[in-house]
Amino acid sequence: MKTSDFIKAKKKGRLLTMLTAYDAPTAEILASAGIDMILVGDSVGMVLLGYPSTTQVTMDEMIHHAKAVHRGAPEAFIIGDMPYEAVNQGVSKALKSAQRFISEAGCAAVKIEWSDSCLEITRALLKNKIPVMGHLGLTPQTAQKNGGFRVQAKSAEDAFTLLKRAQEWESLGIFSLLLECVPVNVASKVTKKLKIPVMGIGAGADCDGQVLVFHDIVGLFNKFQPKFVKRYANASVLLRKAVDRYASEVRRGAFPSNAQSFHMDKEEARAFNRRLV
Ligand code: KIV
Repeated sequence: MKTSDFIKAKKKGRLLTMLTAYDAPTAEILASAGIDMILVGDSVGMVLLGYPSTTQVTMDEMIHHAKAVHRGAPEAFIIGDMPYEAVNQGVSKALKSAQRFISEAGCAAVKIEWSDSCLEITRALLKNKIPVMGHLGLTPQTAQKNGGFRVQAKSAEDAFTLLKRAQEWESLGIFSLLLECVPVNVASKVTKKLKIPVMGIGAGADCDGQVLVFHDIVGLFNKFQPKFVKRYANASVLLRKAVDRYASEVRRGAFPSNAQSFHMDKEEARAFNRRLV
């Protein structure tokens, strides 16, 4: 899919799907399900790498995961999430990082969270033909600084500021906007006012599409569960059962059985035994 196809999808009223992936097998599953956009999110830091927040994730780590996703789904529309390290050290570092997502990791676009420098960075990226998705509302990279992880734009004033920022960002030429944790009516108005598709996460059903973290929807991340997450499977229970069965079979000598074993030709086995005596 090209970025212009997403804009056409909005015009046709087709709802868009987006999920995160950090590795090849997950990317393969998402691609086979026809998910429109795969996000290599900096959530990888908390979900897979055991960091306390997303801000510790390095650009090298993002590239490592984005490459794996691309190997698993080479035809997919993959978006590289610009980590904090890539956006807080000036425009030229941000541009180099975004270029790495495209040229080294095969991404089609990058996502940037709202910050003081995001518009300047966006201009530089677009000038270099790198498609950009903006991220407004709750922005985890700066959430601590801005009052913590809570629903954003709850006052008329804040909602209006959010809409103005969305419109300003759209006017620069971003191809899509992600809205995280904002009231339904605010997301609905922003979605109607923008021409580009608005992807929601905790932003209600009136957005042009939805995005969630893969590990949340399949029950593989259990440290906490935001209200906006819906769980479609409980994979960690399933996986735990499989590990328990494996351990129990190993302990009682039931695994491996003949089915998982290799055998020597009888003659060769006899010759081998003779040489041992
Ligand atoms: O990093 C991430 O997973 C995100 C979410 C909003 C999907 O940015």
